[in-house]
Amino acid sequence: MDAPIAVGAEAVVTVSEFLGRKAAVKTRVPKRYRHGELDRRIRAARTRNEVRVMQGARSDTVRTPVVYDVEMSGCSITMEFIEGVRVKDLLDADPSSSKEVCPLIGEALADMHNRGIAHGDFTTSNMILMPDGRLCIIDFSLGSINVGTEEMGVDIRLLQRAFSSAHSAVEGGFEAVMGSYVEKKTDAGTVLGKVEEIKNRARYT
Ligand SMILES: Nc1ncnc2c1ncn2[C@@H]1O[C@H](COP(=O)(O)OP(=O)(O)OP(=O)(O)O)[C@@H](O)[C@H]1O
Ligand SMILES: [Mg+2]
Repeated sequence: MDAPIAVGAEAVVTVSEFLGRKAAVKTRVPKRYRHGELDRRIRAARTRNEVRVMQGARSDTVRTPVVYDVEMSGCSITMEFIEGVRVKDLLDADPSSSKEVCPLIGEALADMHNRGIAHGDFTTSNMILMPDGRLCIIDFSLGSINVGTEEMGVDIRLLQRAFSSAHSAVEGGFEAVMGSYVEKKTDAGTVLGKVEEIKNRARYT
């Protein structure tokens, strides 16, 4: 196997080549604490879901990796390798880059939500700023389509928490994200109301 670039809780990502193109291969590895057949089915379902949501999320404004190949038996996705810098690393190294990147985050999220797609794990670790200045969204394993305001609210709440913990040095970052989100999202008020509800729910339960 090629050298891994990331080893997560559920998946290993390696760099490879597909028909002469640089590719990223994301493989969901077996979990020994889960029963063999059940484990295989869970990994297959998540792989299938990730491909479906990643492809569905792509639009003129939202960049996602192009899927080159899917191998259901091995639970792996071969996709376009996205060059650039993870937004988490960028903001850690240079908090002032938030002026450039935060509006892009809000715009991408609004565009996905306008089409009924929630990401499910919308943190700055799952975004890559490409050399051409565009933002690519990755890791759709917890994503869903045809969602309601609840799932949209969860995306926003997760990002808000990331900005208040991991990116506390970035001043006004979350507000900048929301500025562009509200501009692009139809009926943004309903989602913002839901975000408040989720926050209060967490406080009192
Ligand atoms: N298409 C890609 N191009 C370049 N780098 C990628 C690509 N896909 C993933 N990576 C790198 O691998 C890391 C982990 O990938 P990803 O976020 O999809 O998996 P994960 O968080 O381990 O997965 P999961 O949350 O599904 O368990 C990313 O943070 C990124 O650095
Ligand atoms: Mg991830």
